[in-house]
Amino acid sequence: MPKKTIQVPTELLNALADAQHVVVFTGAGVSAESGVSTFRDALTGLWARFDPMQLATPEAFLADPDLVWGWYEWRRQLLLKAHPNPAHQAIVKLAQQVPKLTVITQNVDDLHERAGSRDVLHLHGSIFNPRCFSCAQPYPLKQAPAMRHEQALPPPTCSYCQGMIRPGVVWFGEALPQAEMEAAFAAAENCDVLLSIGTSGVVQPAAQIPQLALRSGALVAHINLEPVSCQHARELSLVGVAGQILPLLVQD
Ligand code: OAD
Repeated sequence: MPKKTIQVPTELLNALADAQHVVVFTGAGVSAESGVSTFRDALTGLWARFDPMQLATPEAFLADPDLVWGWYEWRRQLLLKAHPNPAHQAIVKLAQQVPKLTVITQNVDDLHERAGSRDVLHLHGSIFNPRCFSCAQPYPLKQAPAMRHEQALPPPTCSYCQGMIRPGVVWFGEALPQAEMEAAFAAAENCDVLLSIGTSGVVQPAAQIPQLALRSGALVAHINLEPVSCQHARELSLVGVAGQILPLLVQD
């Protein structure tokens, strides 16, 4: 993508320089430059090509476990080949330049951790932590047959209860992990600046996080390919790719 000149508002740079606690809230767009598909892009988004109700609900898993397990296994294998991009790396650098930084992500990949971020709050779980559908026992993933495209694959069996192993992600209709959600909401309520990066902000309850920060007096900057409509005086929209904008927010 050709580089665009992006002007970062001084208000944001000053707020970051003064901040005691910065929250970075990410969605699929932060991993897009690593070659990972987002969900809602009209052409390349996963939900443009696949039906979430057939792949991302407990009912779908029970109806066709091989279809669902195979789809997640295909995505897991793609993620293993992906690498953190300059946006993930800039977040790590920013954490070294402010007193406290909390990363909250809706992503099920581990690209923040592989870039070097610590204690990432994964609101939608992790594709790398499967567990038993029946007894919730974690399942150590073994090498799976290489997949070139999505294909049906039977899920492994739990060695404790013989139940089916499911992906460790949060599906539509399921509750978010309690501890992560409480920690994320508390961070949003107690930060000075929140950067909302690469998310369409439509999936609840995660989508409340920028609003919580605004209500608590923080400055909220949306970093997105698309302009984000700002209703609040302390809300900014920076339009462009995360991997170009985020490095402009950190000192060399
Ligand atoms: P979406 O696919 O809904 O939104 C991705 C956002 O990133 C869009 O607003 C894009 O404009 C923006 N974007 C794309 N590339 C970008 C780039 N290089 N730099 C900056 N912005 C970029 O993904 P999420 O908001 O993460 O839930 O979706 C939320 C949840 O919906 C996901 O966690 C997933 C999905 O169903 C579960 O799996 C439970």
